[in-house]
Amino acid sequence: MDFYRRIVTEILPDKLQRVPVPDSFFGIFKLSVSELASLALFTGASGFVVYSVYTTCQLKLDQYRKASKPNSVGKGTLVNISWRKDVSKVADTISADEIGEKVAMCRCWRSKKFPYCDGSHNQHNATTGDNVGPLLVKK
Ligand code: FES
Repeated sequence: MDFYRRIVTEILPDKLQRVPVPDSFFGIFKLSVSELASLALFTGASGFVVYSVYTTCQLKLDQYRKASKPNSVGKGTLVNISWRKDVSKVADTISADEIGEKVAMCRCWRSKKFPYCDGSHNQHNATTGDNVGPLLVKK
């Protein structure tokens, strides 16, 4: 942290004071060649930093928007795209008596027999490149 504090409080102010910024636009014509070169270097470096930050933020924003598209299999943030959409929360209860020796519970939300697995995760995985599978519950 001391390194960053030193950059912000000592090094940057010192460097910025040396940048030959003219008092007015026409003051540019009064600068020497070396001052113009220094000003151009500072302007270019500042532009590069601003452009880099802008493009990085834009890229992250695009990735976020793309990932937030609702209701497209494999591209959205919705897990449940079709099961009981008329309720605010899908919750199921299964008694232990209903479980035989073993039961496969769906974790992909694509099963037509939800909450039980019907193998629909295979098509989901093939379509999206995902790797979800059922929860196997054994007695
Ligand atoms: S159908 Fe969803 S995990 Fe198998």
